[in-house]
Amino acid sequence: MKLPYAEPFRIKTVEPIRTSTKDERMKWIKDAKYNLFNLKSEQVFVDVLTDSGTGSMSSSQWAEIMLGDESYAGASSFYKLKGTISELLGMEYFLPAHQGRAAENVLFSALMGNEGQGMVVPGNSHFDTTKGHIEFRKAKALDCTIDEAFDTTIFHPFKGNIDLSKLEKVFKDHPKEKIPVCIITVTCNSSGGQPVSMQNIKEVSELCRKYGIMVFFDAARFAENAYFIREREEGYGDKTIKQIVKEMFSYVDGCTMSSKKDGVVNIGGFIATNRKDIYEKASVFNIVFEGFLTYGGMAGRDMGALSVGLRESTEYDFLDQRIGQVAYLGHKLKEYGVPVQEPFGGHAIFVDAKRFLPKVPKEEFIAQTLAVELYIEGGVRGVEIGTLLADRDPETRENRYPELELLRLAIGRRLYTDNHMNYIAAALKNVYDRRDQITRGFKIIREAYIMRHFTVELERL
Ligand code: F0G
Repeated sequence: MKLPYAEPFRIKTVEPIRTSTKDERMKWIKDAKYNLFNLKSEQVFVDVLTDSGTGSMSSSQWAEIMLGDESYAGASSFYKLKGTISELLGMEYFLPAHQGRAAENVLFSALMGNEGQGMVVPGNSHFDTTKGHIEFRKAKALDCTIDEAFDTTIFHPFKGNIDLSKLEKVFKDHPKEKIPVCIITVTCNSSGGQPVSMQNIKEVSELCRKYGIMVFFDAARFAENAYFIREREEGYGDKTIKQIVKEMFSYVDGCTMSSKKDGVVNIGGFIATNRKDIYEKASVFNIVFEGFLTYGGMAGRDMGALSVGLRESTEYDFLDQRIGQVAYLGHKLKEYGVPVQEPFGGHAIFVDAKRFLPKVPKEEFIAQTLAVELYIEGGVRGVEIGTLLADRDPETRENRYPELELLRLAIGRRLYTDNHMNYIAAALKNVYDRRDQITRGFKIIREAYIMRHFTVELERL
């Protein structure tokens, strides 16, 4: 008999979670103005809001916590992490930051100061904080993702890929000085946790070089991307994840990183680059916004834990279980007929809310409606990746209606068991069975000027 797969870890510490009744949840979500970010975590049974900062650290990482050097300047924990980044990513210069968006703030400050009017930053569906930093500076984030990414029924092994002709058009339509960088997000969160192929990374890099444009990774889930390259791209099946990672980074000038994902730590981020000029410019902003160069908003102990986390997340067994568990949930949902994006993403399953709830009008926030229903059904907290997240056009202030209305179920690293996956799938199946009765969604009663989804308040229609 073929041995079944099993988690490559055992559990040393547990954290109790609390069940609740449907009546309690109906009251709680109403009080939360139908915004799942407003719920208290104790009102949630299985939390799949995000895989960011929610992972479980290993015993080796916890051991690093005790070894942390908390010196203001020159801490050994900094040099430990610097060594790991240089060894794994091949990047010589490194600036710690307190999380991914802080690294983005530092990088975009270095590239465009406070004023990016007329500038454009092409890429593959930038994450919302990246877009936020670009648009906050009045520049534009241009999405050059391949068209296949926007059809959840098409199987394409690398839906995070950049369309080279779209990218070249951006380069032809704008003077070089107006394009400070091209960002490749690996894996591409906004298009569904979808990977970018090595070939595409290489070709984008070549095109950028031809036009004299710098290219950076948004590297939050770089290890997951490497796993997909190993599984799906010819020529990589017998390479180690670490070899693939090294090759991926050899094609770019640098990266911003949210360590809360593939760093498997609860907080942290960084910039890494081989460009001394960028490092020097960014250093000034790092000191102003984050902290001195050898801690940048991170405690020494956290830098130590991150150093170990990066080594662990670039192990094949770790990724095989992690991505395997996400796929396990995906298969369960498919079995129940729930429309999900395929192929399954690395960190999350994305439910196609437009196909799930065809009767809810797009003006009434389809994916948010589904997220609220799932919470009421089983105390499962997912997150809307749809019109609320897409926000308003910065110029016209009209709602932007993205092609996809998705409910994301993001799975923390080493966090839940496969039984929790069964539970999530059953709850969603119950909602699916009564989908015909769900015909109306929500209207906004209060929203912020930028990144509204975090604080938006809604009323049922
Ligand atoms: N880039 C990507 C691709 C991300 O997914 C995130 C965060 C960031 C940058 C920003 O990093 O949170 O450390 O400041 N994504 C989280 C999510 C919030 O739930 O997907 P951060």
